[in-house]
Amino acid sequence: MNWDDLIAAARLAQGRAYAPYSDYPVGSAIQMDDGSIYSGCNVENRSYGLALCAERSALAAAISDGKRRPVAVVVATVSSPPAPPCGLCRQALIEFAEDLPILLVNEAGERRELRLAELLPEPFKLPERE
Ligand code: THU
Repeated sequence: MNWDDLIAAARLAQGRAYAPYSDYPVGSAIQMDDGSIYSGCNVENRSYGLALCAERSALAAAISDGKRRPVAVVVATVSSPPAPPCGLCRQALIEFAEDLPILLVNEAGERRELRLAELLPEPFKLPERE
């Protein structure tokens, strides 16, 4: 996996984060099976609960453009060690891919690669119908 373009896209988006309440800018970039890359940042609101995470912002951009098969995700935070996606974002990603490599990065150059299936081993599933 060549992460360079995805990292660059996630960092660019992180620079556009609207995070005046948490002061915690996050950027994410998602690569689809056709090689296309979509990015997103967190978008906060004075009504705190409305905050949209970077990962779901990137995913929504891809889905809105007609792409449904993610193959890799980068998340850029200012945490050390770099932080993984929140629970909501894990569930949102797993809707479109049973497993994915996820690379976490920060400005200090720290990196950690993990997999969506290990972050969310028991995703929500609808019950079987009779
Ligand atoms: N945030 C993300 O964008 N992605 C995550 O996975 C965790 C949290 C954002 C939401 C909020 O704007 C800020 O980070 C602090 O929680």
